[in-house]
Amino acid sequence: MTKNIWHPFTIIKGNPEPLKVISGDGAYLNLEDGKRVMDCISSWWVNIHGHSHPEIAKAIYEQAQTLEHVIFAGFTHDPAEQLAELITSKLPRNLNKFFFSDNGSTAVEVGMKMAYQYWKNLGEDRKTFICFDGAYHGDTLGAMSVGERSLFTEVFKELMFDVEVVPFPETWIGDTERALKEDAVIERIENLLDQHPDKYAGILIEPLIQGAGGMRMCSEEFLQKLHWVNRQFDALLIFDEVMTGFGRTGDYFACLKAQVEPDIICLSKGITGGFMPLAATVCSDDIYEVFNSSEAIKTFWHGHSYTGNPLGCAAGIASWKLLVENESAFKNMEAIHLKNFERLKNHPRIKNLRVKGTIAAMDITNGGDAGWEEGYLNPVSQEIRKIALDLGYLLRPLGNVLYLMPPYCVTEEDINGIYDAILEMI
Ligand SMILES: Cc1ncc(COP(=O)(O)O)c(C=O)c1O
Repeated sequence: MTKNIWHPFTIIKGNPEPLKVISGDGAYLNLEDGKRVMDCISSWWVNIHGHSHPEIAKAIYEQAQTLEHVIFAGFTHDPAEQLAELITSKLPRNLNKFFFSDNGSTAVEVGMKMAYQYWKNLGEDRKTFICFDGAYHGDTLGAMSVGERSLFTEVFKELMFDVEVVPFPETWIGDTERALKEDAVIERIENLLDQHPDKYAGILIEPLIQGAGGMRMCSEEFLQKLHWVNRQFDALLIFDEVMTGFGRTGDYFACLKAQVEPDIICLSKGITGGFMPLAATVCSDDIYEVFNSSEAIKTFWHGHSYTGNPLGCAAGIASWKLLVENESAFKNMEAIHLKNFERLKNHPRIKNLRVKGTIAAMDITNGGDAGWEEGYLNPVSQEIRKIALDLGYLLRPLGNVLYLMPPYCVTEEDINGIYDAILEMI
């Protein structure tokens, strides 16, 4: 291990030394040992345009020479205002008020705190969030509380708050039970809201795709049904689009793809194209108005030192412009994944093929023999990582779930090459 560094999500003993990266360009990372690997997962899903994009680098350099940072309470600046305007122009009409923070977990914390205080400000005491099994919303205590309880959260379970968990109606290509699963979940949520209308602060979901929980996908129709329930019972609907935002699902945001208007949306990862840590929680005008008061007790007392950092916002503006200019790249990637699925669909070690826009996933099986653990700790993940690196690809399966989430600069040939490698590995 590096002498002074403690790496995230890494068992300290017995793990291979981290690989040193010297530089990146486009979809590729250049390692110290001379190896060049294609980053098929956009480095924890952030580098939507690939590495070291000159336009974003230039925007940060220019901004750094003008204003690198300023306290965001009592002050504002052009980059923050422009970025908020650009992004809200593509969000559903009700989502207009931007609250900046600096990572996905805090974007979710802010969303939950806003929802909770919204009810408090209205004189209601709604404490419980409805969340989905398999969810991942981050690693702060609040974000962990609304995520799947697992090995990762086990040590902290006494510090976390209670939530109401409902099944995530995951689906895949060829799933014949989709509508049944969805209706059962909707009925369960309806019952909860009907029986205790004053209990629930909000419904929190990773729309269309649960990321770290195993790239589990649900349908647009399910989100529409959820939206309908939310409107019937006057609950707040919170979309955690930390992963799904900025083109990932084949549209700018999952809520656009599903044509659903959540009350709060949490954004990070792709927001700066992977250049700067930045996040935003965007809420509806209706929510904002409930905080629009001169009373101190109704104020949203939350903020971070780097809130609205001008360099982050400048990177965000440059990244957004690239996204709009190259819209076809993320809109067309699903068709390329689907073409390649034809080569995998009858493979005995692959099941539950699924795709949404730029994200494709599949479960690796052992062909039905006993002793195969579905889940994050399945050792096939390490095996695939190693063989993929030898072949020149950065892949990081979530246990036995193999997924691709490449930057949008990859070509059709690049993607076909990744699938060639998958077939070779398996
Ligand atoms: C859907 C979702 N929400 C929140 C987070 C947390 O983001 P961060 O790692 O930036 O705190 C993640 C990270 O993977 C995520 O996928």
